[in-house]
Amino acid sequence: MRTRKPPSRRRPRKPAPTPTMLAAMAALAREARERAQAAYSRFKVGAALKTRTGEIVTGCNIENASYGLTMCAERVAVFKAVSEGLDDFDVITVVADSRRLTPPCGPCRQILWEYCGDILVHMSDLKGRSRTMRLSELLPMPFDSDSLGVSK
Ligand code: THU
Repeated sequence: MRTRKPPSRRRPRKPAPTPTMLAAMAALAREARERAQAAYSRFKVGAALKTRTGEIVTGCNIENASYGLTMCAERVAVFKAVSEGLDDFDVITVVADSRRLTPPCGPCRQILWEYCGDILVHMSDLKGRSRTMRLSELLPMPFDSDSLGVSK
Protein backbone atom coordinates (compact mmCIF):
# COMPACT_ATOMS: atom_id res chain seq x y z
CA MET A 1 0.00 0.00 0.00
CA ARG A 2 1.26 3.49 -0.82
CA THR A 3 1.72 5.81 2.08
CA ARG A 4 1.29 9.50 1.65
CA LYS A 5 4.15 11.89 2.27
CA PRO A 6 3.42 14.65 4.79
CA PRO A 7 2.68 18.15 3.49
CA SER A 8 5.86 19.94 2.63
CA ARG A 9 6.71 23.63 2.84
CA ARG A 10 9.50 23.07 0.35
CA ARG A 11 9.43 24.63 -3.06
CA PRO A 12 8.53 22.26 -5.89
CA ARG A 13 11.48 20.40 -7.29
CA LYS A 14 10.35 20.99 -10.85
CA PRO A 15 10.13 24.27 -12.72
CA ALA A 16 6.91 26.29 -12.65
CA PRO A 17 4.24 25.12 -15.10
CA THR A 18 4.41 26.74 -18.51
CA PRO A 19 1.74 29.22 -19.64
CA THR A 20 0.62 26.54 -22.11
CA MET A 21 0.09 24.04 -19.28
CA LEU A 22 -1.79 26.63 -17.20
CA ALA A 23 -4.00 27.46 -20.18
CA ALA A 24 -4.74 23.76 -20.73
CA MET A 25 -5.62 23.34 -17.07
CA ALA A 26 -7.85 26.44 -17.13
CA ALA A 27 -9.68 25.03 -20.16
CA LEU A 28 -10.32 21.75 -18.31
CA ALA A 29 -11.46 23.66 -15.22
CA ARG A 30 -13.85 25.74 -17.34
CA GLU A 31 -15.34 22.53 -18.77
CA ALA A 32 -15.71 21.10 -15.27
CA ARG A 33 -17.33 24.36 -14.14
CA GLU A 34 -20.11 23.75 -16.66
CA ARG A 35 -20.97 20.60 -14.68
CA ALA A 36 -21.30 22.55 -11.40
CA GLN A 37 -24.40 21.74 -9.37
CA ALA A 38 -25.03 25.27 -8.14
CA ALA A 39 -28.84 25.50 -7.99
CA TYR A 40 -28.78 27.54 -4.76
CA SER A 41 -25.91 29.98 -5.12
CA ARG A 42 -25.79 30.08 -8.94
CA PHE A 43 -22.05 30.47 -8.42
CA LYS A 44 -20.31 27.91 -10.61
CA VAL A 45 -16.72 26.94 -9.92
CA GLY A 46 -14.39 24.58 -11.75
CA ALA A 47 -11.02 23.25 -10.65
CA ALA A 48 -8.21 21.25 -12.19
CA LEU A 49 -5.51 19.63 -10.05
CA LYS A 50 -2.25 18.43 -11.60
CA THR A 51 0.39 15.95 -10.45
CA ARG A 52 4.03 16.65 -11.19
CA THR A 53 3.93 13.82 -13.68
CA GLY A 54 1.13 15.51 -15.63
CA GLU A 55 -2.09 13.75 -14.60
CA ILE A 56 -4.96 16.22 -14.30
CA VAL A 57 -8.11 15.66 -12.24
CA THR A 58 -11.01 18.11 -12.35
CA GLY A 59 -13.79 19.08 -9.96
CA CYS A 60 -16.85 21.33 -9.78
CA ASN A 61 -18.88 22.57 -6.84
CA ILE A 62 -21.76 20.32 -5.82
CA GLU A 63 -24.50 21.95 -3.75
CA ASN A 64 -27.29 20.45 -1.68
CA ALA A 65 -30.66 21.65 -0.35
CA SER A 66 -29.06 21.12 3.04
CA TYR A 67 -26.64 23.95 2.29
CA GLY A 68 -23.87 22.87 4.65
CA LEU A 69 -23.35 19.68 2.68
CA THR A 70 -22.13 21.69 -0.31
CA MET A 71 -18.74 20.62 -1.57
CA CYS A 72 -16.39 23.07 -3.28
CA ALA A 73 -14.81 22.37 -6.66
CA GLU A 74 -11.31 22.26 -5.18
CA ARG A 75 -12.19 19.63 -2.60
CA VAL A 76 -14.00 17.52 -5.18
CA ALA A 77 -10.83 17.55 -7.30
CA VAL A 78 -8.56 16.70 -4.35
CA PHE A 79 -10.79 13.89 -3.08
CA LYS A 80 -11.22 12.42 -6.55
CA ALA A 81 -7.46 12.48 -7.14
CA VAL A 82 -6.48 11.08 -3.73
CA SER A 83 -9.11 8.35 -3.97
CA GLU A 84 -7.64 7.35 -7.33
CA GLY A 85 -4.25 6.89 -5.66
CA LEU A 86 -2.66 10.05 -7.09
CA ASP A 87 -0.27 12.20 -5.12
CA ASP A 88 2.59 14.69 -5.56
CA PHE A 89 0.49 17.58 -6.85
CA ASP A 90 2.05 20.83 -8.03
CA VAL A 91 -0.75 23.11 -9.31
CA ILE A 92 -4.46 23.65 -8.83
CA THR A 93 -6.42 25.90 -11.16
CA VAL A 94 -9.67 27.49 -10.01
CA VAL A 95 -12.07 29.11 -12.48
CA ALA A 96 -15.15 31.17 -11.63
CA ASP A 97 -17.05 34.09 -13.12
CA SER A 98 -16.87 36.73 -10.43
CA ARG A 99 -15.98 40.39 -9.98
CA ARG A 100 -12.79 39.42 -8.20
CA LEU A 101 -10.76 36.28 -8.87
CA THR A 102 -11.97 33.40 -6.72
CA PRO A 103 -9.42 31.91 -4.34
CA PRO A 104 -10.01 28.61 -2.50
CA CYS A 105 -12.13 29.10 0.64
CA GLY A 106 -10.62 28.53 4.08
CA PRO A 107 -11.58 24.85 4.47
CA CYS A 108 -10.29 24.13 0.96
CA ARG A 109 -6.96 25.78 1.81
CA GLN A 110 -6.66 23.45 4.79
CA ILE A 111 -7.51 20.38 2.70
CA LEU A 112 -5.12 21.46 -0.06
CA TRP A 113 -2.33 21.92 2.47
CA GLU A 114 -2.93 18.45 3.92
CA TYR A 115 -2.89 16.62 0.59
CA CYS A 116 -0.90 18.86 -1.73
CA GLY A 117 1.53 20.81 0.47
CA ASP A 118 2.72 24.17 -0.83
CA ILE A 119 1.31 23.97 -4.34
CA LEU A 120 0.70 26.79 -6.79
CA VAL A 121 -2.86 28.10 -6.87
CA HIS A 122 -3.78 29.54 -10.24
CA MET A 123 -6.98 31.59 -10.21
CA SER A 124 -8.69 32.71 -13.39
CA ASP A 125 -12.01 33.99 -14.65
CA LEU A 126 -13.96 33.85 -17.89
CA LYS A 127 -12.62 37.24 -18.97
CA GLY A 128 -9.07 35.95 -19.09
CA ARG A 129 -7.83 37.57 -15.89
CA SER A 130 -5.57 35.37 -13.78
CA ARG A 131 -3.21 35.32 -10.86
CA THR A 132 -0.98 32.63 -9.40
CA MET A 133 -0.12 32.41 -5.72
CA ARG A 134 1.49 29.83 -3.50
CA LEU A 135 -0.76 28.06 -1.03
CA SER A 136 1.61 29.20 1.74
CA GLU A 137 0.71 32.82 0.87
CA LEU A 138 -2.99 32.00 1.17
CA LEU A 139 -2.50 29.90 4.31
CA PRO A 140 0.58 31.38 5.99
CA MET A 141 0.32 29.63 9.37
CA PRO A 142 -1.09 26.19 8.65
CA PHE A 143 -2.28 23.69 11.23
CA ASP A 144 -0.96 20.32 10.16
CA SER A 145 0.73 17.11 11.27
CA ASP A 146 3.72 19.15 12.50
CA SER A 147 1.40 21.00 14.85
CA LEU A 148 0.23 17.69 16.25
CA GLY A 149 3.77 16.37 16.49
CA VAL A 150 2.70 13.46 14.35
CA SER A 151 4.90 12.06 11.63
CA LYS A 152 3.02 10.30 8.90
N1 THU B 1 -17.11 27.52 -4.04
C1 THU B 1 -16.20 26.70 -4.61
O1 THU B 1 -16.54 25.67 -5.20
N2 THU B 1 -14.90 27.05 -4.53
C2 THU B 1 -14.44 28.21 -4.01
O2 THU B 1 -13.25 28.47 -4.07
C3 THU B 1 -15.37 29.16 -3.41
C4 THU B 1 -16.78 28.70 -3.28
C5 THU B 1 -18.53 27.18 -4.18
C6 THU B 1 -19.25 26.69 -2.97
C7 THU B 1 -20.67 27.07 -3.29
O3 THU B 1 -21.24 26.03 -4.09
C8 THU B 1 -20.56 28.30 -4.15
O4 THU B 1 -19.23 28.34 -4.62
C9 THU B 1 -20.88 29.59 -3.43
O5 THU B 1 -20.17 29.70 -2.26
